[in-house]
Amino acid sequence: MEQTFIMIKPDGVQRGLVGEIIGRFEKKGFSLKGLKFLNVDQAFAEKHYADLSSKPFFNGLVEYIISGPVVAMVWEGKNVVTTGRKIIGATNPADSAPGTIRGDFAIDIGRNVIHGSDAVESARKEIGLWFPEGVANWSSSLQ
Ligand code: CMP
Repeated sequence: MEQTFIMIKPDGVQRGLVGEIIGRFEKKGFSLKGLKFLNVDQAFAEKHYADLSSKPFFNGLVEYIISGPVVAMVWEGKNVVTTGRKIIGATNPADSAPGTIRGDFAIDIGRNVIHGSDAVESARKEIGLWFPEGVANWSSSLQ
């Protein structure tokens, strides 16, 4: 079954959006397979965002991700990568539709509350980076 990596960023945690965000994925019917609440250091954040290292916003992005604790999760279900991105909304909250997480809770692209893998292959890499010990093995009867 398809899996995706979802991270609630430090602004989402500080603003008390953890329960709201987890609830949206649960109510959709996806299965929570892994969850951890942690601070990451600069080297780890740089590894997670390695594909963006040439971008002018890279240093600011890394500073943002290490500025406070994050919630790292693995969610599973049919088409969870693409559907998860729809639940999250467009990267730039200015373009995110109301009803999406970013559309409802974010204004600034540099403080966009949540990250979700953009493809099955990046999900596999990100899950391996954040959950090297593996994830829980149970299956929801909903899927
Ligand atoms: P995320 O889904 O985590 O993937 C890459 C992140 O880079 C993105 O969300 C934003 O947080 C950040 N990002 C993308 N474009 C910009 C930008 N122009 N300025 C600042 N941050 C950006």
